[in-house]
Amino acid sequence: MQLSVVILAAGRGKRMNSDLPKVLQPLAGRPLVQHVIRTAAALEPAALYVVYGYGGAQVQAALSHVAASPTAQPNIAQPSIAQPSIEWVLQADQLGTGHAVMQAMSLIPDEHTVLVLYGDVPLIRPPSLQKLVAAAAEGALAVLTVNLEDAAGYGRIVRNADGEIRAIVEHRDANPEELQIRELNTGIMAAPAHRLREWLLGLGSNNSAREYYLTDAVALAVQAGDRVVGFSAASPTEVMGVNDKIQLARVESAYRREKAGELMLAGATLADPNRIDIRGEVEVGRDVFIDVNAVLIGTVRLAKGVKVGPNCIIIDSEIGAGTEIHANSMIDRALIEENCRIGPFARVRPNSVLHHDVHIGNFVEIKASDIGPDSKANHLTYIGDARVGSGVNVGAGTVTCNYDGQNKWPTLIEDGAFIGSGSMLVAPVRIGADATIGAGSTITQSTPDGELTLTRAKQISVATWNRAPKLDENEKAAAVEAAIKKPTS
Ligand code: UD1
Ligand code: CA
Repeated sequence: MQLSVVILAAGRGKRMNSDLPKVLQPLAGRPLVQHVIRTAAALEPAALYVVYGYGGAQVQAALSHVAASPTAQPNIAQPSIAQPSIEWVLQADQLGTGHAVMQAMSLIPDEHTVLVLYGDVPLIRPPSLQKLVAAAAEGALAVLTVNLEDAAGYGRIVRNADGEIRAIVEHRDANPEELQIRELNTGIMAAPAHRLREWLLGLGSNNSAREYYLTDAVALAVQAGDRVVGFSAASPTEVMGVNDKIQLARVESAYRREKAGELMLAGATLADPNRIDIRGEVEVGRDVFIDVNAVLIGTVRLAKGVKVGPNCIIIDSEIGAGTEIHANSMIDRALIEENCRIGPFARVRPNSVLHHDVHIGNFVEIKASDIGPDSKANHLTYIGDARVGSGVNVGAGTVTCNYDGQNKWPTLIEDGAFIGSGSMLVAPVRIGADATIGAGSTITQSTPDGELTLTRAKQISVATWNRAPKLDENEKAAAVEAAIKKPTS
């Protein structure tokens, strides 16, 4: 059996009241439709069509990277999810879900099984779909249904006295009796291509929306004597549709709950599973502890025993075993090895590697730097474009002056160096192994191994000096005027 998946993503999403097309609205930081594409890819279809229309260029641009490999990250392995190649199908006028599927049908061979997914039903999982596809491969029209108390906006599954599915009636077209039905259409269906093609040709738009409803294919299949079967979704959250911002928030929180559950089952302790934000693929080892309000974005790996303090943000990073990230720290595209202490209030920026047992303290920023084992920068420091060896101590208030206004320059600090507090290291510059830099030095030339280097004005004391007298407002104004007057030449 050859499978063609058709994802409907052409609609505007009026009810979103947004300039962003609905299928690009973010769920866990990624467009809604991207979640659907990933799930579809897991089925390994022969072809994957995305029907696009409203905001077409924007939709294509947003998904252009999906078919390619994710942003290359040194040292960080990417999740091994097959990247499907998307075939784009234009639906220039959005005349309904049936019309949308029709646009793809000319590309799909008769002997394929077609699975239709909706770009606005993002949490669907493969097992529910596999059942449908298997039934369709046997010749049936298979629809995925769900029983919900809150049926607003959903098509109703109409069955006869024998319990056979006869039709799907849209909410807005339903009569009072049909409105009572709680078995609902999820929108997702599968069918043999040659049969679907025929039913679609029979669709009309004589309904309240003046649209070609895909759902009418059910009644047409019944009329043609085809078998129609219903399967209920594995869980109601899987088939939640997103039509407005309230439903978007509900889906986001369902996703978050599900991800939090996965982390806990993998051995993580969450201070409060309702106060963690997971927007991507997070992997945890045993005995990881994550405090409240952590935001984990992209591909994040926390090895065993990692502790993440409250209010930390970790993006596309890998954290080694036993490392502690203290409160209010931000780690972005970095590799941090085992047993490091980071924060509170630390910022580790992209392309940084911190080797084992590194300590990075409060108000320290590390950018594109490699910090060797057992090195420390505990307070108020900027290290950018630097290579720092092992066992280095960087004193409070040290700055690698890496930018001359035009170019970025590297700083090299060799093993065992001690940088006194308040030092300015003007790059490009090398600090020798076991060198000591006296506090408050501005270092503009490379320094020898093992020696003390300092650039400090000589300390003086002025015995005759007096503190300034207290001035009144007029005296102060006069003093300011005199001081800031431009010299007349
Ligand atoms: C649809 C179903 C409804 C089901 C519900 C489940 C139809 C007629 N109705 O209603 O039975 O209960 O989903 O969530 O199918 N789209 C296009 N082109 C179009 C119109 C829509 O590509 O011309 C796409 C949209 O981008 C969206 C999807 O199809 O991703 C569903 O469209 P939407 O308008 O949201 O349908 P619902 O009213 O939710
Ligand atoms: Ca919808």
